[in-house]
Amino acid sequence: MSKTWSNRFEGSLDQFIQRFNSSINFDKKLILEDIDCSIAHARMLCSTKVITNDDATKIINGLEKIKKDFENNMFDPSQPAEDIHYFIEEKLINLIGDVGKKLHTGRSRNDQVGTDIRLWLRKEIDNINHLTIGLQKVLFLEAERNLYTLIPGYTHLQRAQPLSLAHHIMAYLEMFSRDRDRLMDVRKRVNISPLGAAALAGTKIKIDRYLTANELGFEDIYKNSIDAVSDRDFAIEFTCASSLIMVHLSRLSEEIILWVTDEFSFATLTDKCATGSSLMPQKKNPDVPELIRGKTGRVYGNLHALLTIVKGLPLAYNKDFQEDKEPIFDTVKTVKDCLSAMTILINEGLEFNKDNLMNAVEEDFSNATDLADYLVEKNVPFREAYQIVGNLVRTCLERQCLIKDLTLNELRGFHVDFENDIFEKISPKNVVDSRKSLGGTGFDRVSEELKNWKNELFH
Ligand code: ARG
Repeated sequence: MSKTWSNRFEGSLDQFIQRFNSSINFDKKLILEDIDCSIAHARMLCSTKVITNDDATKIINGLEKIKKDFENNMFDPSQPAEDIHYFIEEKLINLIGDVGKKLHTGRSRNDQVGTDIRLWLRKEIDNINHLTIGLQKVLFLEAERNLYTLIPGYTHLQRAQPLSLAHHIMAYLEMFSRDRDRLMDVRKRVNISPLGAAALAGTKIKIDRYLTANELGFEDIYKNSIDAVSDRDFAIEFTCASSLIMVHLSRLSEEIILWVTDEFSFATLTDKCATGSSLMPQKKNPDVPELIRGKTGRVYGNLHALLTIVKGLPLAYNKDFQEDKEPIFDTVKTVKDCLSAMTILINEGLEFNKDNLMNAVEEDFSNATDLADYLVEKNVPFREAYQIVGNLVRTCLERQCLIKDLTLNELRGFHVDFENDIFEKISPKNVVDSRKSLGGTGFDRVSEELKNWKNELFH
């Protein structure tokens, strides 16, 4: 292995410092992007006549061969190469000889690493987007099966008003759809080429930045070479968008964890996703949603790390940037794993206990608002109706009964305008169905939304 540094250096690096300095153990993930970046760079140098056709062909064929060998598992990038960029360059020189030494003309590892990581992240953003669509699809199918299944709706984790289970599930479709919008928005800023910024100032070598940008599928190029090599906003934005995906996965996880408790019993874990206890034979644990909820912390940590890494850095490139890789890689892996796990959990790991759900909405005061709204329809001012129903609920609590257990006469004792139709109106099904306002849980509205989502996800 040739010495990395120029002849300016007389001695060699301390062995520990060499390892400390090195990033190859993690940035080898960028190998294919690094090779693509170099192929584009070589083509460009040829087109601007900085290198001859012949040299370019040798360099490009050499790089293609390295790529094939890697894909055939013929080597694994490792130390003593400091990073993947040096590793490939040295491998090329070993393979094709001195002409390989022309590859690094007019570029620096600073613009090179920026290009590689953007190419890699762009691909992974698309993967995450697809996994999010996959999760949305299984959530949609669960919603579609449960238009008329009712579930208690909560505020403050106190029973509030009954809902269509489909409506509840589709709230998550909305969240994940915003997540996808955010990913696509970040993608625009990931998809800008820093290549050609060289170390920080540009280069006097005749290069064509648009040519390499086009070749690599970038939408545009960075306008300022200093910004090009020192911008990591895109990585922070990506991790921020990922943190929100994790927020949504974690909230859904938390609900599932509650639903499968004995206390709620709204759903049951199938054996596909449930785990046992090593001690208590009766246990069936929701490890999958718990892990997703727990892993959310890692992604927030990665966001915090990236923000902190960048905050004090003077322009332009600083080695601190090498520390951006692991948080980015870990975020991608964690988000992809959690999206996949949640998709399996929803698809085959969870069964709703419809009977328990239906019974749950029969056994509470979540129709109290409807009693008040009933009086409002009879021209009673809302605040007055609200107090009347408050008294009525208190009486029920004292008598340990539900509203539906009162007789019409008893109801009339609270307000004379109660008629016999009140009992029908406060049945959970009608309570849900009556919420016909836009965005509400009324069955008509929810079934319109199901139709919209079906078009959106399965067109
Ligand atoms: N391994 C480095 C990184 O990940 C590559 C760029 C190094 N540039 C430099 N001037 N030392 O950031």
